[in-house]
Amino acid sequence: MLNDLVKRCRPLSSQATLCILGAGFSGSHLAKLSKALGMRVICTRRRPEPGSNNLSFDSTIGILPNREALESVTHLVSTIPPTKEGTDPVLSALGELLHQLPLQWVGYFSTTGVYGNSNGNWVYETDEPKPTQIRSKRRLECELLWRNTDLPVQILRLPGIYGPGRSPLAAIHSGQLKPVDKPEQMFCRIHVDDVAGACLHLMHQAAIGQQPKVINISDNRPASSLEVHRYAARLVQCELPSPIPFRNAKANMSPMALSFWADNRKVSNVRLREELGYSLMHPDFQSGLQDCYQAEGFSEMNPDPTVEP
Ligand SMILES: NC(=O)c1ccc[n+]([C@@H]2O[C@H](COP(=O)([O-])OP(=O)(O)OC[C@H]3O[C@@H](n4cnc5c(N)ncnc54)[C@H](OP(=O)(O)O)[C@@H]3O)[C@@H](O)[C@H]2O)c1
Repeated sequence: MLNDLVKRCRPLSSQATLCILGAGFSGSHLAKLSKALGMRVICTRRRPEPGSNNLSFDSTIGILPNREALESVTHLVSTIPPTKEGTDPVLSALGELLHQLPLQWVGYFSTTGVYGNSNGNWVYETDEPKPTQIRSKRRLECELLWRNTDLPVQILRLPGIYGPGRSPLAAIHSGQLKPVDKPEQMFCRIHVDDVAGACLHLMHQAAIGQQPKVINISDNRPASSLEVHRYAARLVQCELPSPIPFRNAKANMSPMALSFWADNRKVSNVRLREELGYSLMHPDFQSGLQDCYQAEGFSEMNPDPTVEP
């Protein structure tokens, strides 16, 4: 819950202005956290909601935020994914402007897909990325573009981001989720509270000189898809349909869906937790799904779920 997260976080100094390019799912959560802490925050969206203070930025049609609006920005986050051509929308459209801002920290949201397939073994920031999917190759290209600027960039590698509004609970509750069984396949994930909390933590650490170039933001508990879905089903007190073995399910999967099952890895968060001292709000999917259960209103239907961790 945002209130609990706010209690654990510290604002940046009163001189700081945070700009979030792309206030989508995770960007808007970071904005809410930062605003609740009293920070100055500027956000962009392609189509800002009427009445919001968000700026317009859509690189595809050349709508750019104006220079004056950004001139006090000290901390910048880009959540905007690569173009189909593998270029970075932010650097292409705003690269020159960014170099004129008084930036102290820049966070680029990347993906753990850049590691490729480790056959279920742990991957670390020190491993050489070996992406297998085209979109992960594009992502690695964009990481390099950011790293080759002389901006104070930190690459944040994220696994599947979930949270209230992006959890499997509703689909399980309505009987729409068809579980797939591939027990040896590990997936990693991170709750959106920890995306926001870790981001702010990294800005503080950078201010005291701790800013590794690359950092994984993942929880402690890689798990198979079925393990997560079984737990979610127990939470919402629904019977999960019989899981379909992956070897059968794959025949009906889209190329995009299939690509999510292509790589098997466990993403280490030791650097984030032990070297940089971040304490996860949701260390595992059980904690994160319980939060979704509350925030998505299931607890009102069923105030006392008796689910073992
Ligand atoms: N979701 C995941 O599980 C996951 C996992 C690993 C990595 N990531 C990566 O982490 C980042 C954040 O994820 P998210 O789920 O929070 O993403 P999201 O909700 O899709 O937000 C992406 C933001 O980028 C903006 N955007 C997209 N194309 C743009 C363009 N050409 N010009 C300007 N703005 C553009 C969107 O604008 P609008 O607000 O107007 O739509 C949105 O605000 C993304 O780069 C994503 O690929 C996500």
